[in-house]
Amino acid sequence: MKICVIGAGYVGLTCVACLAEIGHQIVCIEKDEKKLNNLKKGIVSIFEPNMEELILKNKSKITFSSEIKDGLIDSNICYIAVGTPTLENGEVDTNAIFEVANEIAKNIKNYTIIINKSTVPIGFNKKITNFMKERTKTPFDIVSNPEFLRQGSAINDFLNPERLIIGTSSKKALEEVLKLYKPLNLNDNQILTMDENSAEMVKYAANSFLALKISYINEIAKLCEKTGANIEHIKLGLSKDSRIGEKFLNAGIGFGGSCFPKDTKAIVNIAKEKGIELETIKSAIEINENQIEYFFQKIMRFYKNNIKNKTFAILGLAFKPNTNDLREAPSLKLIKKLESNGAKIKAYDPKAKIENHQVESVKEAINEANALVITTEWQEFKELPLETLLKLKDKAIFDGRNIFINKNLNEYGLQYFCIGKNE
Ligand code: UDX
Repeated sequence: MKICVIGAGYVGLTCVACLAEIGHQIVCIEKDEKKLNNLKKGIVSIFEPNMEELILKNKSKITFSSEIKDGLIDSNICYIAVGTPTLENGEVDTNAIFEVANEIAKNIKNYTIIINKSTVPIGFNKKITNFMKERTKTPFDIVSNPEFLRQGSAINDFLNPERLIIGTSSKKALEEVLKLYKPLNLNDNQILTMDENSAEMVKYAANSFLALKISYINEIAKLCEKTGANIEHIKLGLSKDSRIGEKFLNAGIGFGGSCFPKDTKAIVNIAKEKGIELETIKSAIEINENQIEYFFQKIMRFYKNNIKNKTFAILGLAFKPNTNDLREAPSLKLIKKLESNGAKIKAYDPKAKIENHQVESVKEAINEANALVITTEWQEFKELPLETLLKLKDKAIFDGRNIFINKNLNEYGLQYFCIGKNE
């Protein structure tokens, strides 16, 4: 099938790479000139495992353009995958979608199925449908098809989804979308068709639930520290109950990234407008916002509130491993706090880049550092040998991702602090 994908961010490019991989012809539209020129040369500026490889492998099936009309010439399926950031007041900024919808309406000549991958407020599908109907007489359907991919495993998540949500009231559109995803070989239980509003809600509800799980375990971790329990045992104990499950129970310095912080705030705001206070999700947000301060205070307690001129080796900048994305990264918030208290920073991340403080290796970060701070659980850090850790001047490790929680580092002469075991 011939498909137009609008937006070359994480979601858009994953669609491009994967839809081409399953046999479709793609025109990808990106208005950022620099990004577009790089893509034309085969350069993908975001780090996502296998993405660049897949785009290169399928390059005969993919073209890039800045003009939506180029994408619509002979395609009757058009994906929208543009950003929907949260505004200062908590509202979702859907301007980019309106702009795109306006262009689509101007340029469609035949029946077109518009598949919306962007996360939008509930009821948005209907709103944008009306907006387009005022601008074109050509028939179209808008399908809400939220994306659940995780950065760091986006390609695999797209090609092997646990579920596919298709929100549409149009039979014709549903048939076409099912054809489009047929190569994924999903079984009937994995394909969930529903109305547009529900499909939009599923995305917010899923992300908020996962955020709740993380904030919940972070609260329990605090209680572990006060009571002499060990969060690792609690996690294991919980995970064997299939009603709870084993995932998203890692205590740490909290969730970051482009989705959880944004979507939790958005759903709280959406509910508020309808007169409902989502108290659980509000708490999850608050706990998360305090989590960095909680961790920072561990450092301050160790140094008796004076970290002036102490050098901290910060390992990990990205908001999670296997991505170079720094959006809402807890590491950046912590660096700010440390610096404003007079500390010196030497930060290392295998993929993410910041302007100041960055060094090129773990060795360089640790050399001459007083203490080590783990902010992202990259595999490389988990494998650090004891000799390297023992080079720290104050022999102190603050592990914000609990990667060494089971190693009994105190027995080897290190002072080890984590989340959820001892204060
Ligand atoms: C998330 C959702 O998982 C995905 O389905 C949705 O499409 C987009 O948002 P992503 O933001 O890429 O994906 O990463 P995810 O792996 O969910 O992690 C989000 C944040 O939560 C990270 O900062 C991570 O460190 C943190 N986290 C995750 C924890 O603190 N503890 C956990 O147990 C799991």
